[in-house]
Amino acid sequence: MPPRLWKVALPLLAAALAPLPLAAQQTPAAAPGAAEADLDALLARMTTAEKVGQLVQRMGGRQRALNSRLTPEELDLVRRGEVGSYLHVAGAEPLRALQRVAVEDSRLGIPLLFAMDVVHGYRTIFPVPLALAATWDPADAQSAARIAAVEASAAGLHWTFAPMVDVARDPRWGRVVEGSGEDPFLGSAFAAAQVRGFQGADLSAPDTIMAGTKHFGAYGAAEGGRDYAVADISERTLRETYLPPFEAAAEAGTASYMTAFNALGGVPTTGNVELLRSLLRHEWGYDGLLLSDWRAIEELQAHGVAGSRAEAAKLALEAGVDIDMVGDVYAQELAALAEADPALMQLLDEAVLRVLRVKRDLGLFADPFQYHDAAREAAVMLAPGHRAEARRIAERAIVLLRNEGGVLPLAKTAGRIALIGALADDAFSQLGSWRARGQIEDVVDLRAALEAAHPGVTYVAEGVEAAVAAARAADVVVLALGEDFDRTGEARSFAEIGLPQAQQDLLAAVAATGKPVIAVLMGGRPLAVPEVAGQADAVLGAWLLGIEAGPAVVRTLFGEANPAGRLPATFPRASAAVPYAYDQLPSGRPASEDLAADTVRWRDQPIAPLWAFGHGLSYTTFDYGPLTLDRATISAIGGTVTVSVPVTNTGPRAGDEVVQLYMRDPVASVSRPVLQLRGFRRVALEPGETRTVRFTLSAEHFALWAQAGAWIVEPGTIELMAGSASDAIHARATLTIEGENVADRSPASIPVESGADVGH
Ligand code: NOJ
Repeated sequence: MPPRLWKVALPLLAAALAPLPLAAQQTPAAAPGAAEADLDALLARMTTAEKVGQLVQRMGGRQRALNSRLTPEELDLVRRGEVGSYLHVAGAEPLRALQRVAVEDSRLGIPLLFAMDVVHGYRTIFPVPLALAATWDPADAQSAARIAAVEASAAGLHWTFAPMVDVARDPRWGRVVEGSGEDPFLGSAFAAAQVRGFQGADLSAPDTIMAGTKHFGAYGAAEGGRDYAVADISERTLRETYLPPFEAAAEAGTASYMTAFNALGGVPTTGNVELLRSLLRHEWGYDGLLLSDWRAIEELQAHGVAGSRAEAAKLALEAGVDIDMVGDVYAQELAALAEADPALMQLLDEAVLRVLRVKRDLGLFADPFQYHDAAREAAVMLAPGHRAEARRIAERAIVLLRNEGGVLPLAKTAGRIALIGALADDAFSQLGSWRARGQIEDVVDLRAALEAAHPGVTYVAEGVEAAVAAARAADVVVLALGEDFDRTGEARSFAEIGLPQAQQDLLAAVAATGKPVIAVLMGGRPLAVPEVAGQADAVLGAWLLGIEAGPAVVRTLFGEANPAGRLPATFPRASAAVPYAYDQLPSGRPASEDLAADTVRWRDQPIAPLWAFGHGLSYTTFDYGPLTLDRATISAIGGTVTVSVPVTNTGPRAGDEVVQLYMRDPVASVSRPVLQLRGFRRVALEPGETRTVRFTLSAEHFALWAQAGAWIVEPGTIELMAGSASDAIHARATLTIEGENVADRSPASIPVESGADVGH
């Protein structure tokens, strides 16, 4: 048996640590007065202190008081060339002034980089990323990222720390809100789409910004869902589940990555030579920028792998980390280290060149002020078209989780509505955990939107007695439940992810009135809410939807928008039933609902989740025809297959169906998941309309991470399944693979071409 990858990797380390060949340097035309554009020549002129300065990223201010730290002393650092970039700064004019100090008052005139967490919008705030993924349409996420880039770049920013592509299967982890859910294939599509949205086709255009894909590589696997905790996972799980979206981002051209705070199997990521230098830089050939997370180099000491700040600096540089975010460890330690050790000086030079290269690619050497145009800033911020797109995407992110007796949509003549629950009136929460420059006054919340749309609305924030009275006096109850913005996000992990007792009491009391209850379930994570499923007639998964949250929910309640979002992550029945993902490995004793049998399950609750990955209902109905393949057998070497399934809207309304294609490899050299997503397509269908949805897959899409430590396409059969959710498969077919082949990247990271032809 060939050795496993980590063993293969070790002898490569020496080679990997040797200087990488630098990509050929292009020399763009230098504007008069601009800094030297020949990067090698520029590097040759730099003092060690100036080199280190390029790797130093300082904080401009706190989120709410941007640029507040730009004191005279701070500006002197810039004049001395001791800062390469700032985060948490913004504003076309103030950043023009700061850039002017760097370009005109420093010895070499190297422009600064300005960065911020522009995650789901800059001023125009879109649904939180988990909700964007619920659209199951990467084009929506790309559009949101594009608009975010247009606004952020107009505010003088060059760089965002997004997309966050960490696969998350433990909703106790608060950062589940920031990513695209539990699936590596879905996550890869959204990762690539966001990179394309932020960066556009040309990074040097004034309205594009650098993506900062994060947090490389297994932050989402933090044990127990506790933020910052170690990820201790197998290499196969790392490769097949956690890394594909990062690979997809690389393919889409991400200009930078950020390291994760946590350790992988005991090796902190920010000093992890195997992960960063051997895998990311050497194996994937990534020669772009890599920055640490906030003080993560300094934290190598707390992790217990560095005995001093100097050791931490050395470890991070050797691992391949170019920029020290906020920690000042590089600033204080690297010059002496590099001057004492030519190998470190070589690594320092490489890191500096990577920083200079992105500055060149952004067009900063050609025109350092092109992102600082106050007129453009005023014109684009919260432009009407941006708000309209925020509404459209918010509607597409809503998931109809339950609709007993067709209680939804409400008729315009629905009568008196009791709107209950403080979240209905919590505009701030709709901005989510990262909100860049989002403003509370820009948000239209559920209460405002419902009161504007419907005459007979009585609003009760809380209090069982008042709620029951309002419900009794109404014809229908809309009950806002779930979590506010502060329950998810960084360092917001919770062991209990059910409804708080007060909300459970409210729900029970309101349901006991016998009035139809529509629960609008908000929040940034999958919640364990069996009581909502048990007591509400209808449930709308409404996440935290951004500035147009209220109108999007109200239009959905009244059927002006037909919901078609799908869950990007499983909703469990209990907090103790996580982590959980649909693509489980089989067991020798497969789970069944038969409690008398000894199977892989809990005894005290059903094994099926509350709502499965991919679940989502509609106000119309869809029928699936048979799944057909254009060929029954493909070669492992270069083979492709086109899989087609006709889908018909059999109901009375226009609506979107999200056609999901899953695979299973029933017998392989290692156990394979019971289902794996390998295609999806959101398709709009008029009543009675049929479209044939097709997916073209290559043999590489069926590869697995083999015991040999490589991606192998194995011979044998593959089961293909199409359906409307991971627990609603409607059509099946079998494909045979002949021969064997080695693939060069993870199957989940490879895009699948799809189409939707009219008719059968
Ligand atoms: C820490 C977070 O982990 C990271 O995602 C973010 O980009 C930085 N802080 C900068 O705000």
